[in-house]
This record gives sequence, structure tokens and C-alpha cells, in this order.
Amino acid sequence: MNIVIIGFASCGKSITATAICGLTDMRHVDLDRVVEERYGKRTGARLSVRQIFGEIGAGGFTALENDALKSLSEMRDSVLSTGGRTPMDAANRACLKSIGRIVYLRCGVDTVMERMNKKGTPLTMGSAPEDIKKEFEKRDPIYAALADITVDNEYLTPDKVAAEILKRISL
Ligand code: S3P
Repeated sequence: MNIVIIGFASCGKSITATAICGLTDMRHVDLDRVVEERYGKRTGARLSVRQIFGEIGAGGFTALENDALKSLSEMRDSVLSTGGRTPMDAANRACLKSIGRIVYLRCGVDTVMERMNKKGTPLTMGSAPEDIKKEFEKRDPIYAALADITVDNEYLTPDKVAAEILKRISL
């Protein structure tokens, strides 16, 4: 069985996935890296997901993510960290459901904005606080509806959040 971690950009999906793998013998797969690899193989260009989004736009990026998710259909005993925008597409949502149990890693909008100040805002949304808030309000109910469980990631360390996920999710 696999665990799929969804949530807003900068909510801690990758670090939590790594922590789960540290507590189990599961393997971490990061969808952004799979997208980058597949784009690199196809074009010969080594670009980050943000650069790829800038190059091919929303439609192309969604198709690329969908293709990357399909390539993971045989994945077993793994923790998949997704991109923040991945669950916004219906075909992506169906793939995520078929891959494994879904965890919405939830942080409040103020926390993600604080973390984004360090890492930067994805090109998929404006960088003004009101743009980020609007995007958060759009995505939050979609993440919540898709998830099997929602786990708060405001205050606990990655190891504690990972342990809480493993306790609550039935693998
Ligand atoms: C995005 C988040 C990024 C990446 C892309 C779009 C978003 O992933 O998939 O730049 O719109 O939230 P992270 O959530 O890992 O930052």
C-alpha cells in the first residue's frame, strides 16, 4: 500500500514524507521530481517544476503531471509527495485515489505564507497575500474532500506528524 500526501505549497509535504520513510521501510517518491525527470527526458532540458510551468503553462503542466502519475501505477510501499496544484485536476484526483491512501497535510494560510517567504511562491498563483489567500480558499475544500484523513501540520515536528499519520491511516 502507498501513502499519498497532498496539501498547499510549502505545507511540508516532502519533509513529512521523508519522516514517514524514516519510521517505516517505505520509499519516498516526489511527484515534482518525477515531472522534472520526465520533462528532461522528453526535451533534454533540466528545468525545475516552476520553470517547466513557466515554459508550458497550466494545460501542459497538468498533462505532464497526469502522465507522471500514470507512470507510478505499479508503485508499492511508497510515500508520494505531490505538487500543491496536483489535486486541482479531476484526472489527477482519480490517479491519486488509485495510488493509495490520501493524507491532507493542513496548515493555515498564514503559516504557508510565512514559509513561502523563505522558499518563494509557485508561478501558479500571484505572490500578493490576497492572491495566495484566494488560492488557498479555493484549494482547501478540494484537498479536504479528496483526503482519507486530514492531519494538522502547524505545530508538531515532522517525526510527530509522521507518527500521527501512521497511527491514523489504515494501510
Ligand atoms: C505548485 C506547487 C509546487 C509545484 C508547482 C505548482 C502549486 O509544488 O508542483 O510549482 O501551484 O502549489 P510544491 O507544493 O511541492 O511546492
